[in-house]
Amino acid sequence: MAFDHKHLIDITEYSAEDIMQILETAVTFMEVNERKIKKVPLLKGVTVVNMFNEPSTRTKSSFELAEKRLSCDVLNFGGKSTSVVKGESLVDTLETLDAYKIDLVVVRDKHAGVPYLLSQHTPAAIIDAGDGKHQHPTQALLDLFSIWRSKGTLEGLHVGIVGDIGHSRVCGSLVPALKIMGCTVTLIAPQTLLPARPDVLGADYVTADLDAALPELDAVYMLRVQRERLEGAPFPSTREYNMLFGMTRDRERLMRPDAIVCHPGPINRGVELDSYLADHPERSVILDQVYAGICTRMAALYLLLGGSENA
Ligand code: CP
Repeated sequence: MAFDHKHLIDITEYSAEDIMQILETAVTFMEVNERKIKKVPLLKGVTVVNMFNEPSTRTKSSFELAEKRLSCDVLNFGGKSTSVVKGESLVDTLETLDAYKIDLVVVRDKHAGVPYLLSQHTPAAIIDAGDGKHQHPTQALLDLFSIWRSKGTLEGLHVGIVGDIGHSRVCGSLVPALKIMGCTVTLIAPQTLLPARPDVLGADYVTADLDAALPELDAVYMLRVQRERLEGAPFPSTREYNMLFGMTRDRERLMRPDAIVCHPGPINRGVELDSYLADHPERSVILDQVYAGICTRMAALYLLLGGSENA
């Protein structure tokens, strides 16, 4: 089936069928990632630029590996090592790279809207790898993949997203993605960590009572408290935050027997998530999410770059 998107910037532009096509394609790439030689020639001759202007461990490493395992030519670029520090604009930077006839740019930036801006100035495809507090669509895809693989379905699941919703680009993509796939979504946070208009995200329920919500949930998605984006003191202490909004050993008793715990990483252990649950062999799917990152990013790259037509 042909894939009718050039960019992956806004997950709300994708239908349930588009998302399921990416997830099912990602399943086929799991097989490649289990091989001794983890490389296929599907995107040989394609040039991809990874422009990371903000720190990243998971997203950057998994994109780079995904590209290399698909046989792309990869240019890693961004941050303080570029002429942006001398005052060159991002658009001029992109137009310079375009002169090399690049095919796709993966971009992470602290400013919301940068992926869209770049898409207006290049014939290359753009993937948003996280822009400010706005969106992180490939994170949503890998989260959907992990929940789907763990629970066997997405339709009808109830997912709770807990914590720093106001600063979360993960939430900006994950809430609409879950809704597109037929899930019920509850946001659980103190008032001070909610956006001014939480309803805009499209969740079904908003509450500050984690204990009351937990018995209803099939998946508990813990968000990182984004210390680098906090202004003022949105909660009195990390100890109090952990008591009210952390997933602790005590709280596990309130979970459904088959409910899972997700986290996009990096984790603030002992703040939003205790090690007992982060490392729990049955509950935690956090390392499955990391693995899903490479499979879903291979799928997105392959489909955006015309792989389904080539096949
Ligand atoms: N989840 C996520 O985006 O992690 P990194 O910042 O390490 O890429």
